[in-house]
Amino acid sequence: MSKNDVGYRSDPQALQGLVEATQVHRDVYISEEIFQLERERLFARSWLYVGHASQVPETGDYITVDLVGTPVIMIRHADGGVRVLINRCAHKGARLLSEPSGKVPRLLRCPYHAWSFDFDGRLRGVSLKAGYEGTGFEHSVAAQGLSQPGGVAEYRGFVFARLSQEGADFHGFFGPALKALDNMADRSPVGELQVAGGCVRAEIHCNWKMYIENINDSVHPISTHESASGTAGKISQEFSDANPAALEQLLPFGAGYDFYSKMGARTLPNGHSILGTEFSIHSAYSDIPNYQQQLEQAHGPERAGEILSFSPQNVVFYPSMASKGSPQIIRVLRPVSANLTRLEVWSFQPKGAPEVLLKRGLMYSRLVFSPMSVVGHDDVHLFESQQSSLASAGNPWVNLQRQFTLAELDQEDNSLADGNSEALMRNQFRAWQALMQPDTKESS
Ligand code: FES
Ligand SMILES: [Fe+2]
Repeated sequence: MSKNDVGYRSDPQALQGLVEATQVHRDVYISEEIFQLERERLFARSWLYVGHASQVPETGDYITVDLVGTPVIMIRHADGGVRVLINRCAHKGARLLSEPSGKVPRLLRCPYHAWSFDFDGRLRGVSLKAGYEGTGFEHSVAAQGLSQPGGVAEYRGFVFARLSQEGADFHGFFGPALKALDNMADRSPVGELQVAGGCVRAEIHCNWKMYIENINDSVHPISTHESASGTAGKISQEFSDANPAALEQLLPFGAGYDFYSKMGARTLPNGHSILGTEFSIHSAYSDIPNYQQQLEQAHGPERAGEILSFSPQNVVFYPSMASKGSPQIIRVLRPVSANLTRLEVWSFQPKGAPEVLLKRGLMYSRLVFSPMSVVGHDDVHLFESQQSSLASAGNPWVNLQRQFTLAELDQEDNSLADGNSEALMRNQFRAWQALMQPDTKESS
């Protein structure tokens, strides 16, 4: 039985006690009360990925996204900028746009009573205007137009929003992790990315933290993905000279513990991290003719070398995004409840670079991240079995002790670690504790 009845909202000590230095209580994964508190505190105060500016190239182009229960619109304004608005009419709360993407001709018009709004959220018109005269309507909250997130930031085309007014500013929150987005964008000779090839989506019946932890879990591939890498190994023996691209991507999953140990890792402040500071399963992909020369011309030989040699396995943008520089992919988590997480996988074409880069990304996404793939379904099976088993009787603690040292607690969260250490997961939970502190204004 979960400790749901404790009432974590009114017992901050019990809430903080769910995370210890080397283990976390199962309620962080299975309790709906905890998930509700995460929505109000952790997700509201974090910078969440909305979308990429290349998805809305022209005025009026929009996408709609659910940010952990808050529907938002990302739309291109006539001034050239991208705006993020809460997708909730100022009148009575109807959803303004219901399609996942589209184009609005001139104004956002509510389908319910036809109030209209500018692309920056300003109220432009109400139906039966005369009925509001002399009512003091201009002083109402509704007259202020659409609600907006507490903060919006665009970085190299990646658009993020912080729902709460409270929380770290964008650069303070992500800090050195942003270098990974620079790396991805600079893989283009013109420094720009284009979302391409659609989105792989999946619904996984597990808590979002299981997924974001697994992104740093270098010890699982050799066992979890044994069937995929073993089969790839057998098939590759039939190809004497060169392996097809699919095998090039699958074979490294079978690399031993030693490989993953040496790839190195780094914890970053606020739960972010880099797995594969030295190299990764993506480092040995075959060269693309003329690509390096193209980057050298654009960025200079030194920077081009830096860009191509930084190829981590995963960079986590805690709490709900992770990137791969090569292939150019991001994974975004859209948590729905304690037991349900939606996954989005987006691929990018570096503008002006060979198209084979996008092909690699799309192939990787289909082979590895799709739940219909030869890799992703292994993970999904385990996440879902973990989720249901944790709710049953038995040890209520999840262990995260591998390579723990007491010194870790005094170190800054900007430390190198062995690639097989669980330090990156412990780092996530330290951030979790900090982000789950009650708001001083919150009534208990
Ligand atoms: S709810 Fe939108 S106009 Fe009434
Ligand atoms: Fe996996």
